[in-house]
Amino acid sequence: MPNTVLIGAQWGDEGKGKVVDVLSRDADVVVRYQGGSNAGHTIEIGSERYVLHLIPSGVLYPDKLCIIGNGLVVDPLELVKEMQALETRGIRLAGRFFVSDRAHAVLPLHRRLDTAREDRAGAGSKIGTTQRGIGPTYADKAHRTGIRMGDFLGTQWEARVRARAAEMAEPGDLDSMLKELAAAAAVLKPYIADATTLLYDAWKAGKNILFEGAQGTMLDIDHGTYPFVTSSNSTAGGASTGTGLPPKALERVVGVIKAYTTRVGEGPFPTELLDAEGEGLRKRGREFGATTGRPRRCGWFDAVVGRYAAHVNGADFWAVTKLDVLDACEVIKVCVAYECRGRRYETIPADIGLLAECKPVYVEYPGWKCETGRLTRFEDLPAKARHYVSELCRLTGVPLGILSVGPGRENTFRIAL
Ligand code: IMP
Repeated sequence: MPNTVLIGAQWGDEGKGKVVDVLSRDADVVVRYQGGSNAGHTIEIGSERYVLHLIPSGVLYPDKLCIIGNGLVVDPLELVKEMQALETRGIRLAGRFFVSDRAHAVLPLHRRLDTAREDRAGAGSKIGTTQRGIGPTYADKAHRTGIRMGDFLGTQWEARVRARAAEMAEPGDLDSMLKELAAAAAVLKPYIADATTLLYDAWKAGKNILFEGAQGTMLDIDHGTYPFVTSSNSTAGGASTGTGLPPKALERVVGVIKAYTTRVGEGPFPTELLDAEGEGLRKRGREFGATTGRPRRCGWFDAVVGRYAAHVNGADFWAVTKLDVLDACEVIKVCVAYECRGRRYETIPADIGLLAECKPVYVEYPGWKCETGRLTRFEDLPAKARHYVSELCRLTGVPLGILSVGPGRENTFRIAL
C-alpha cells in the first residue's frame, strides 16, 4: 500500500473511523496527525462497537504500530481512560502504541477556558466547540506557553502548569488538578516517545503508513469556514507537519465523503435542511455526535464543498459513506453551485458572511427506494444508487475508491483501493 493520508472532505463525521479500519489492514503503521479528543471515530466489528477519540483506529488490529503524532493536542486524563477501556476489552497497547513527546498536552485549565469562552460568547460568535480544550491548547502552543507530553518525563512540568494557572482568572482547584495529572503521567510515561524518529525509521524501512485525519476540510483552521472551524490543519498538508514526515512521504490521499452532508456546531451550511427531510436523514443516519451526543445538522450533498476538498487535499480517491441513509428518499438533491447577490459561485467564498447568504443550485436524482444497508456486494446495488454515486464522483472530479452502505466491515466495498 502506498503511504496514504485519509482526510474528511466535509465538516467531519464522514465515517473516517470505518474507512481507516478497512485501510489499516494493508498498513504497518497508523498515525494521527492533528486534533485531539474532539474527534470520535466509530468502528463496528460484528456486535462490538468502538469509539476512539485519541488513539488511532488501527489499534483494533493487533499487529499495527499506532502513533499519536506531534500535531495533536492530547488530554492525558482522557488518553489514560481510553487506553484502559481498550485494555479491558483485550486490546494490548504496550510496545506498539506511542505518543509523540512533541504533542501538546490539554490541561483541565484549557477545558475550563474553552467552556468559559463558549458560555460568554453571544449569538453569532459561539463556535459550538466540543469543549475538549482544543482551541485554548493550540493557542498556548502558538503563544509558546504550552506543556508538551515530553515534559511529563521531566521534573519542571508542575511549576510550568502553576505558572500558566497563575495567569488565569479562574484556574479551578490546582492541587487536585496536579494530582490527577501526575497520576496520568505515571501511566503514560512508557508510551511517550520520539515519534518523529520512530516514523522516520519506519518510512525508511519501507513500512506502509496510514495517516488518520480527524474532523474535516471545512473545519480546517486555514481552509475551512473560519472562524467556525477547529484549531488545527485537518487537511492533507497537516499530515506532514503533524508527524514530522516530509511531504514526499505522503504518496496518496483518500478523502472520506458522506453521500449527504452533516455539520455539528455553528457556522454556515448552504445545503442544510431544516424540514422533515433533514430530520429523516438525522434519524436514519443516526446523526448524533460520537463525542458530545449533539444532534448533527443535516442536508443534501454539496458538490461545491466536494470539489474544494478535492483541490485542497489533492484527493486521489473518494471513500463514499452512508449511501444507505438515502434509501428512503423519493428524490435526492445535489448542490452543484451557489447563487448569491446576483452571482454564481462554483467554489467556496472565503467571506463567511457571503457564504451564509449563498443559496444552493440543485440538480435532482431519482431515489432507488429499496434497502441497501445489508448488501455485501457492490454488484447488487440498484442501478439508480450506482448512478448517484458516479454523479458525486463526476461532479467533484475524483474517482470512487471505496463505497460503504452500512456500519459493518462487510458492508464496505473496495472498488479501486
Ligand atoms: P473544537 O474542535 O472542539 O474546538 O470545535 C470547533 C468546531 O469543530 C465545532 O463546530 C465542532 O463541532 C467541530 N468539530 C470538532 N471536532 C469534530 C469532529 O470530530 N467531528 C465533527 N465536528 C467536529
